[in-house]
Amino acid sequence: VSVAGAALGAALPGDGSPLRILMVEDVETDAELVLAALRRAQLAFTARRCETAADFVRLLEEFDPHVVLADYSLPQFSALDALALLREQRVRLPFVLVTGTQTEEIAVQCIKEGADDYVLKERLARLPAAVSRAIQTHRTEREKEHAEDALRSSEERYRLIAENTRDLICLLDPNGAVLYVSPSCRELLRYEPAELATAADLWRMPDDAVGRPMGILRLALVDGGANEVQCRHRDGDWRTFEAVGSWVRGDDGGVQHAVVVLRDVTDRKRAEERLREAQLQLIQAEKMESVGRLAAGVAHEVKNPLTVILMGVEYLRQRFDQFEPEVVTLLEDMEASTRKANTVVRGLLDFSTPGTLDRLPVALNSIVEGALALMRHEFARAQTEVVVDLADDLPALELDRHKIEQVFVNLFLNALQSMPEGGRLTVRTWRADENGRRSRAVCAQVEDTGGGIQPDKISKIFDPFFTTKPLGRGTGLGLTVVKKIIDLHGATIAVSNKQTGGVVVSLVFRTGPGE
Ligand SMILES: Nc1ncnc2c1ncn2[C@@H]1O[C@H](COP(=O)(O)OP(=O)(O)OP(=O)(O)O)[C@@H](O)[C@H]1O
Ligand SMILES: [Mg+2]
Repeated sequence: VSVAGAALGAALPGDGSPLRILMVEDVETDAELVLAALRRAQLAFTARRCETAADFVRLLEEFDPHVVLADYSLPQFSALDALALLREQRVRLPFVLVTGTQTEEIAVQCIKEGADDYVLKERLARLPAAVSRAIQTHRTEREKEHAEDALRSSEERYRLIAENTRDLICLLDPNGAVLYVSPSCRELLRYEPAELATAADLWRMPDDAVGRPMGILRLALVDGGANEVQCRHRDGDWRTFEAVGSWVRGDDGGVQHAVVVLRDVTDRKRAEERLREAQLQLIQAEKMESVGRLAAGVAHEVKNPLTVILMGVEYLRQRFDQFEPEVVTLLEDMEASTRKANTVVRGLLDFSTPGTLDRLPVALNSIVEGALALMRHEFARAQTEVVVDLADDLPALELDRHKIEQVFVNLFLNALQSMPEGGRLTVRTWRADENGRRSRAVCAQVEDTGGGIQPDKISKIFDPFFTTKPLGRGTGLGLTVVKKIIDLHGATIAVSNKQTGGVVVSLVFRTGPGE
């Protein structure tokens, strides 16, 4: 009895209230016997008895029992009926069959229909233990269901997080094999998770020697902090991801998994890059401006004295013309040097003065031809083959004829100077096509077969005073002035090395709105 009592204690409702027992029994004295057996086990309980289905249903509601004890057969009701009603109402209660002399067969049938146990009326001493066991079984089942529910909803929550994040979440095993990639990769990279997990060429680590996916692990975890990984988008574009990882340890403290969260920072990186470029350009522009001011100051101061010297030298040359040959030669050298100095000063002024344009509608070809005529002797002297290929369908452009001629002369000179042993200079003009339609842009190219520009120098060629030519040959202002004139016209210039050697300079002029 005491053992049963202890077991029953565990079966009691947690809040200390007495156990509520609903009995299905038509014989009052039988009911008393059953309750007496429970009382002997020192169980605190209250009991209600019913004989019909209607009462049973009513008491289920009203009395809210913890356990049902049912006789097998009553005049108007039975244990099987009660079990059917419970099922119908979706109520699950501990259910013990308490029966007279019925056969085992009936008991087995009841258990099949959902009863937990059965006790024969002549063995009521077994009842407390049977009730206790039935209650405990139900409680354990309920707890298991709760745990399963909780697991399901927590899994559902994690699935929601993993599948709806903009980040890429990867689960790796300790050897670096990718076990899971969140579906966000479909939107981020247009690849399926399985493709990303297995294709090594979709990943790029800063250190090429590091293989994927150990590389991701090492980057994200071992090095600590955030690291950058690149993943390829299906369109071929490499996207930059910031990787942050953490180890997942098991109960024994050993590493079981690694979680790596990758965030697409490509746009941020590009914006930073643009900002840096803009800052550099600003610094460069400021530098130019101060160089320009200095150059303008010096040029202004030097220009007038040079004019005076030049006039003086010319006068003296005329005076001494018939006399001493050495003096004449000396004066001629002085005149040539002074003219050269004058050209440099003019270049400085061209590059440093704000520059106003005198624009008139003009045919670009006629300007090119003018510049070619100016250079005719130079070409002949350097044995340069000149190829001229000018389109005859060009619209007129609003240009400052004089300044654009200066542009071509400078480009021809550079080409010429790059081919001291002779070579071929090509100048061409054409009307650009845009999407198959004739566009409003006019293009021009000056091409040579010279030595080209060293790749690391190509970014400097527009800088004032940048020259690779020996002292006295170049001042490094030619392309600076060219660029300035082109900018003033709203045109563009690009200088590049040709694969076959030599340089090609491309100009693009937009036609005015009147065209
Ligand atoms: N066609 C070209 N072939 C090879 N290098 C070139 C060519 N055009 C320009 N360069 C390089 O760019 C540099 C700058 O050219 P830029 O015309 O500004 O100055 P420069 O020719 O040296 O001197 P300047 O034109 O003032 O007499 C040159 O010194 C040369 O190194
Ligand atoms: Mg030059």
